Amino acid sequence: MQDQQTLTSLWADESVFRGNLDRTPFLLAHSLSGHPLFELSRLVQLAQLVKRNSNNVVYDAGDIRVEDRWNRRPPKQHSLEEVMERVDRAGAWVILKHTEQDPEYKTLMETIMSDIQSMSGRDLGKTTRNLEAQIMLTSPGRVTPYHLDNECNVLLQIKGEKDIFIFDQTDREVLTETELERFWIGDWNAGEYKMRAQDKAHAFRLAPGRAVHIPVNAPHWVRNDANVSISLSINFEWKDESIPNVYRANFFLRKLGIKPKPPGQSGFSDKIKGVAIAAGFVPVRAMARGSVRLVRRVRRAGLKKSTNQAATA
Ligand SMILES: [Fe+2]
Repeated sequence: MQDQQTLTSLWADESVFRGNLDRTPFLLAHSLSGHPLFELSRLVQLAQLVKRNSNNVVYDAGDIRVEDRWNRRPPKQHSLEEVMERVDRAGAWVILKHTEQDPEYKTLMETIMSDIQSMSGRDLGKTTRNLEAQIMLTSPGRVTPYHLDNECNVLLQIKGEKDIFIFDQTDREVLTETELERFWIGDWNAGEYKMRAQDKAHAFRLAPGRAVHIPVNAPHWVRNDANVSISLSINFEWKDESIPNVYRANFFLRKLGIKPKPPGQSGFSDKIKGVAIAAGFVPVRAMARGSVRLVRRVRRAGLKKSTNQAATA
């Protein structure tokens, strides 16, 4: 194992990797801790490049709980650079997306992807798209709230220690069909944390030199230790959209009052739904806009209710 680690940037038992990729979370090892590309001064320099597109930077500073919605963020009071330089005391969470715009980070990403490719034993170049390297900086004690992602992911812990809790994406007590349907039409807040399911999570201890694989749709949340954490996330999407398309069609069918079959229960039904989505018979974008409006209405109603409650208490 030691020899192999010195030859590669990322390593896992090959049979574990091949058997569990995009199915079950598992730990890996890597050799990037202490790499100069993760020095804070270099990351601040990288942020200057990345922030040219505001979509590529997400940050906030404040008190966040695991059950908080993905888009509930404290108001920004400092610039990105200030937050990064004060990350040891800012209560902050910073994501730099598409760091591969910088050629040095691109080389690093491609090296890691090459390791992923060789461990997978598959031609991932043919089956994946949108390869991306994100870097996360997190303040001591900060929580990353519960969420799920549409990308397949390997998260490399570069600096600091933290716990990550990853749930089984196939367990419908954890993640319901309706949550998945909302997620795949574009509601990134669709996953709802269920305290009663916390014991079902795979808990992984992350430390420099360790990495974890997070399958598509596997809900997760993170609790940082009393240290600054720096992580590198290598993300890619599968080109095959057959299952997401069934969820999109099912969202539409459920709106019509029909109880749809989940993907995998009927090959014929899945195929028809896939054809309907691909042909544009199901208005996915309009549904997504409608879902966002619905979420806003529910939130406003909740706010009104809690304000009324406060007024009458
Ligand atoms: Fe995530």
